[in-house]
Amino acid sequence: MFKKDREGDLPMLLEKIYHEKGWDFRNYKKSSIMRRVSKRLTCLDIHSYKKYCQYLNDTPHEYEKLFSNLTIKVSEFFREPEVFGELCGIIKTNFSETVLKVWCCGCAYGEEAYSAAILLSECLTTDAVKHTKVFATDIDGEALDQARKAQYREESLKNVPPDILEKYFFKADGQYKVKYNIRNLVKFGVLDIVGSPSISGVQILFCRNLFIYFNKSLQEQVFEKLDYSLRPGGIIVLGKAEVLPPSFAHRYSPVGERLNVFRKKVAR
Ligand SMILES: C[S@@+](CC[C@H](N)C(=O)[O-])C[C@H]1O[C@@H](n2cnc3c(N)ncnc32)[C@H](O)[C@@H]1O
Repeated sequence: MFKKDREGDLPMLLEKIYHEKGWDFRNYKKSSIMRRVSKRLTCLDIHSYKKYCQYLNDTPHEYEKLFSNLTIKVSEFFREPEVFGELCGIIKTNFSETVLKVWCCGCAYGEEAYSAAILLSECLTTDAVKHTKVFATDIDGEALDQARKAQYREESLKNVPPDILEKYFFKADGQYKVKYNIRNLVKFGVLDIVGSPSISGVQILFCRNLFIYFNKSLQEQVFEKLDYSLRPGGIIVLGKAEVLPPSFAHRYSPVGERLNVFRKKVAR
């Protein structure tokens, strides 16, 4: 009974967050949102969403804590290394001399964006890489401030091969920092993919481990923006547990085996 009361008031809380702060979590998966909000409620010893709404009124800085809880930023360099292996082959075969526009949507603290930049440095010609850019965006501006510092703990680098570590990182304050030639390829910016227009003319698009937090209708809605962004013949990379929304599946061909890498078909 108590649990049901709490569930019933969740839309009210999400509406409040949207109207007060403009963060639209209304179509994120309910189970995941409930789990994340529960953490705050437990921390504050608050037992209903209604009381939590009141607490937000009285303590506006709580919004930032809630936001940080709702946006899960777990990542690592070369997450799913086999995907980067496949991408390396694709780039060398199809794009090696092309000036590329790459977009990491939902880039968290930058691990994926710098991994992409390293991949491009390894796979493109020197001339192409000079003009290539990785646009790395996230809803969380604080995470991006951290990403721009490009400094990481050893745990997030466990998939980085020793020669790549040596070539593209240096040690600083007991951590690893990304070298400037790689940092210069990446441009970070805040972009809420639910509420904002997307980037156009992209040839390689990473959107990994973001759709898992969206309900089906939001996945369709957001994928429409990604589809608009990606040039015909371009590559989109989704996370391991994610699928192409059904209404777009016919416009993409899978690349590699079970990798969740897809090529956008060229219309004839
Ligand atoms: C789990 S991380 C994924 C990081 C990286 N793509 C990876 O796969 O390792 C999900 C990221 O999506 C971001 N995010 C959540 N909602 C978003 C939205 N509406 N627009 C843009 N980014 C969002 C979060 O802030 C978080 O950094």
